[in-house]
Order: sequence, then C-alpha cells, then structure tokens
Amino acid sequence: MHASVLDRVTSFFNLFIFFSLFSFLLEDDELNLTNHTCGLLRPIPFCFQKTRREEWEQVFEKQSKGEITTASEEQIRELSRSCSRGSRGHGGGESMWDIKPSSLTGKRPSHSNSHGRHYEITGDDCPQLRALDIEVGLANITRGSMMAPSYSTHANKLVVVVEGSGHFEMACPHLSGGQSSSSQRRGRGHGGRECGGEEEEGEGREEQEGEHKSRGYKQVRSRIKVGSVMVIPPGHPTTLVAGDDKNLAVLCFGINARHDEKVFLAGSNSVLRQMDELAKALAFGAEREKVDRVIGAQTDAVFLRGPSSRRISSE
Ligand SMILES: *[C@@H]1O[C@H](CO)[C@@H](O)[C@H](O)[C@H]1NC(C)=O
Ligand SMILES: *[C@@H]1O[C@H](CO)[C@@H](O)[C@H](O)[C@H]1NC(C)=O
Ligand SMILES: *[C@@H]1O[C@H](CO)[C@@H](O)[C@H](O)[C@H]1NC(C)=O
Repeated sequence: MHASVLDRVTSFFNLFIFFSLFSFLLEDDELNLTNHTCGLLRPIPFCFQKTRREEWEQVFEKQSKGEITTASEEQIRELSRSCSRGSRGHGGGESMWDIKPSSLTGKRPSHSNSHGRHYEITGDDCPQLRALDIEVGLANITRGSMMAPSYSTHANKLVVVVEGSGHFEMACPHLSGGQSSSSQRRGRGHGGRECGGEEEEGEGREEQEGEHKSRGYKQVRSRIKVGSVMVIPPGHPTTLVAGDDKNLAVLCFGINARHDEKVFLAGSNSVLRQMDELAKALAFGAEREKVDRVIGAQTDAVFLRGPSSRRISSE
C-alpha cells in the first residue's frame, strides 16, 4: 500500500515535469499552462545534506514564493529547448532525452467519427513518455455527444477540461471512495435526467444530484467546465458528455500506461459483445435475443450520440 502511494507520488512528480514540458506542444492558445513551475525542491533539504546549512538557506531563501510559482512562457520554452539540446549532462550526441516537439492535434486522430476525435501521443511516439510510463491524449467530443463508458485496466487518468463544458459520470466500486473530486462540486444544479451510459441497468436509479449507490457501485456525477480536473483510478467506468452548445475537449494523462488497456462498455467495440453466450446468460437475466439486440444496437465506437442529441441537428 505504501509502495503504491509512493508510486503515485513519483508518477505525479514525473507528470508534473511533463506537464510543464508539454505545455508548448499544444497549439491551442487557450491552454495556458505556463503558470505551473514550482519550488518543488525547497521542502526537501535532505537532498542537499553535503551543503552547509547556511548556504542551503541562502540558496533557498530566494525560493520564498510558495510551492507554486510563475514562469513565463518564454522561460518554459527555453527550458524545453535546453532539454532538447541534450544539455543535461547526458553527454553529446543523440540521447533519449532529446525531446522532439510534436503536435498532439497535428497528427491523425486515433479515433474519429462525427461524435468526436481522439488524439494521442504514446510511448511509441515519444521515448520520454515511455520512460515515465505516461501517455497523453486529447479527446474532442462534439457538442451533444458523449464518450462511450470505459475503464482503464491499469492506468490512473488525470483529465483536464480545456474547452467547453458538460458532465462526467463515474461508477466507483469503493463505497468509501467519497473523496473523489466530484463530491466537492455538488449542488451546482444539473440538466434533468442524464445518461450514465450503457453499463447501467437502469434498476434502482434515483433522480438525484451527485452520488448514489447501486449494487455496491457508487455513482459519482459532476458538471465539468474549463479548468475542471478529474482523477480516474483504474477499474472505474467513466463517461464524458459534452454540453449542447459547444464541443467538450479534455486533455488526458494516463499514468502507468505501459500495461494499460482501455475497456469499452458500450459501442461497437464493447467488451459486452465479446462475451460468450453462457457468460451473457449469467450476466443478464433477459432473453438472449433481447440482450443481443440491446448490446448490438450501437454501431459507433468510442464517441457516441449523446443522451440529448436527438434535439440537435448533427453538424
Ligand atoms: C499565459 O499566462 C501568462 C501569465 O498569466 C501570460 O503572460 C501569457 O501571455 C499567457 N499566454 C497565453 C498564450 O495566453
Ligand atoms: C498566472 O498567474 C498570474 C499571476 O500569479 C495570474 O494573474 C494569472 O491569472 C495566472 N494565469 C492562469 C492562466 O492561471
Ligand atoms: C475541437 O473541435 C472543434 C471543432 O472541430 C475545434 O473548433 C476546436 O478547436 C477543437 N478543440 C481542441 C482543443 O482541439
């Protein structure tokens, strides 16, 4: 347990660095991550044991702006540039730490249909990401559409809303998992009945804001808007629904990405479609034909028509 906490802290530290480095890769102006450079070293004097205490204090006295300080965009660009020059003591020549900038949205989307597009940079494209065991993705969900409910088998996802608004729903298997980000955002009002995706069987659903329990899963629901951050642990089925007026774009960091698999619970690539007949019969009480009809109804994958899109003419 402690090891995994440490893992997460380490991952987050790595992630943080990449958050800074990658901010310049994104072309979108509205994505302003330049403020996130921080005085991480100040609280850990034990790293500098060989230094005299007074010197140490002199050095770190200047670092008095708090844990999070501001760096200009130029400073961050310069940092990134010096990384890509390999000037970090890794010797000359090609190093795996040579960062070649690439644009997340400049390449072909990994998934695309009329309901949305998904771009990603994985360890295959960028060895630094593999070393950090992280992948970066950008999902741009068309207004009124949704992302099919899915869960990650191993990765912790950190999702940042960079454009638009909408809502997110997550099924949380731990009843005590109440610290999840959305519980703090309760009470903002919501747009009536909302779709929780096809992993729900509809029974015992309550028309309630926020969270409710069903079969040992606690449903967590929240409105999201630009700047909202969601932390989604592995094994937590999650769906994102774009608002009706604008596309919802989210930047997504997958931590522990190496052995991760994304399992979709709805859509034409749904795991339910791959269940064999006996498993289906056990899992669903209903007749086989009915189950197949329900599961097979969806022809799109990854990005689907949203719960309220019938009201909107498609683009
Ligand atoms: C990002 O924020 C910084 C500090 O607030 C500002 O100086 C800079 O112009 C902003 N960049 C963009 C692209 O909005
Ligand atoms: C960045 O920091 C500056 C000064 O601390 C603040 O005025 C500005 O709003 C911040 N920008 C963002 C995008 O958070
Ligand atoms: C999302 O897609 C819309 C429509 O194509 C586009 O205008 C917008 O810039 C995209 N957002 C991002 C963050 O890529």
